[in-house]
Amino acid sequence: MESIKDFKRTNYCGDLRKEDIGKEVILMGWVAKERNLGSLIFIDLRDTTGISQIVVREEEKEAFEKAEGIRGEYVIAVKGKVEERESKNPNMDTGDVEINVKELRILDRAKTPPIYIKDDDDAQEEIRLKYRYLDLRKKHLQDNLKLRAKTARVFREFLDQENFVEVETPVLNKPTPEGARDYLVPSRVNPEKFYALPQSPQLMKQLLMVAGMDRYYQIVKCFRDEDLRANRQPEFTQVDIEMSFVDEEDVMDLNERLLQKIFKEVKGVDIEIPFRRMSYQEAMENYGSDKPDLRFGFPLKNLTEIVKDSGFKVFSGNCKEGYSVRGINIGDYEKEFSRKKVDRLEKFVKGYGAKGLAWIRIKDGEISSPIAKFLSEDEMDKIMETMEVEKNGLLLIVADKNNIVFEALSGLRNHLGKELGLKDPKDYQLAWVVDFPLFEYSEEDDRYVSKHHPFTHPRMEDLEFLEDSPEKVRSIAYDIVCNGDELAGGSIRINNRELQEKMFKALNLSDDEIQQKFGFFVEALQYGTPPHGGIAYGLDRLIMILAETDNIKDVIAFPKTKSATDLLTEAPSNVTEDQLEEVHIQFADGK
Ligand code: AMO
Ligand code: AMP
Repeated sequence: MESIKDFKRTNYCGDLRKEDIGKEVILMGWVAKERNLGSLIFIDLRDTTGISQIVVREEEKEAFEKAEGIRGEYVIAVKGKVEERESKNPNMDTGDVEINVKELRILDRAKTPPIYIKDDDDAQEEIRLKYRYLDLRKKHLQDNLKLRAKTARVFREFLDQENFVEVETPVLNKPTPEGARDYLVPSRVNPEKFYALPQSPQLMKQLLMVAGMDRYYQIVKCFRDEDLRANRQPEFTQVDIEMSFVDEEDVMDLNERLLQKIFKEVKGVDIEIPFRRMSYQEAMENYGSDKPDLRFGFPLKNLTEIVKDSGFKVFSGNCKEGYSVRGINIGDYEKEFSRKKVDRLEKFVKGYGAKGLAWIRIKDGEISSPIAKFLSEDEMDKIMETMEVEKNGLLLIVADKNNIVFEALSGLRNHLGKELGLKDPKDYQLAWVVDFPLFEYSEEDDRYVSKHHPFTHPRMEDLEFLEDSPEKVRSIAYDIVCNGDELAGGSIRINNRELQEKMFKALNLSDDEIQQKFGFFVEALQYGTPPHGGIAYGLDRLIMILAETDNIKDVIAFPKTKSATDLLTEAPSNVTEDQLEEVHIQFADGK
């Protein structure tokens, strides 16, 4: 292969314009396309900035011979003159010009790639991930990574200006599971002991506040061994922030200004601050979700009181169990849902554990519904009033346990929003969700668990309920939601040892467990801790929104699959017996 010695790149492929006509340039890149017209060979040359059209003419004998052997994805360098194109291509940034080649060097050959290097290539995801380095040659993925780098830069600029100090915290940590499952790393020099990879640097950033660092941030990898749903990765990136001597208003104000700068500089979009605020209660009641998509309506309405004694046993029966009946009204979009389509919606909510989907259609004021005959006139009137029915409507109603009703209807709402094209990716509806309950009851563990984490400060006025009615205690926590995603979450922290211990006890940790897991932290709280609070952004999720994609893998260079594998390197993989022995691990089945 030829060398690039004494051949210096003068321009990038995406840069050349009319103004460059007449210049002699040297470009380097990949062959995106080649067309041999006999006495003329056209090549589309691609690099990270774009594509330039290259023309090799028969008269340039040496270059032409080489060009004849060129295939897609060969890496070449060309020297030539920028000339005006005869037939211009208005769809290309460089469409006015072409390079008339004098010299061509082949820097590397390429096998035929297993995927097309085209933005609209629809190869299977598995193949794209296995050949990620080829997938990443696509413009839209490179653009996402550039947007990600730019966003990180704006974070740093803003936080530096506000006197935050970027501090790195350890990756090998003490396992303190509380929340998701830890990724564990065996220790070679300490037999039978393990480190955990950080789920977040929560304790370390609080210790930095105890240390008096005042304002900390870090763009940091976090690891959670969770069952992966859409838009979750086992390793993901947080922009982690913590500040001393602040209350929640200070943290919220800073983050609003921060996001305003990010949207402006990265997207050129002005977002309005302060963001609207919504209590957790309000979010659940109106949208069935604590991360509502506020780009469209269809709010949930509670029909429980109206139908609790109804002749429709599905409704009254659920009410008697203490469950609820709620519905949404899609108004004029009624037209777009035939009977068949409504049946499909019923199947959809059953995926959330709902037992059915009752519907009432209103067309020009006429009601039709399979359940109408079971409802009294008074019940129907009240349903119409509560659901704010006008001339047309389709009411979609679920009766079940509260959590199932909320999950099914919020899922349905999001599904309809997408299906009806109401999710404009350029409409950024940001809001704070506040006043979360401090705890939620975990049926699986048969105890209260933290809604956020055990270091979240309870609301002062709710402190009295901490021991006897923990479900009544609200926290000083705040999440930023945008278009149905949780972008960031944070809180004011407990800065007092007694309260922190009370909190651990409310979570059912014994004195021994507190000592064993969090002894170092509780001890630190005895040496003078400033009031402090912070927040962490899910950087990947923010980038998804900015990049207008709904697939988290599109914003991560080397993402993992749903089963936490890397198809490119085939991680995780087996290790040798020697390696296992070194870390003092033996498989129980003797393998
Ligand atoms: P939390 O657990 O809410 O808070 O995480 C903060 C943000 O991180 C993002 N996130 C994820 N992104 C991708 N894949 C995942 N598996 C994943 N899990 C979380 C979300 C979320 O809002 N220490 C606290 C923050 C604090 O209190 O300051 C914390 O980690 O966007
Ligand atoms: P059934 O009594 O099962 O024949 O159901 C009558 C109608 O009520 C059907 O349209 C079902 O989809 C609907 N339905 C059944 N269970 C529920 C439920 N829990 N919530 C809402 N609608 C339901």
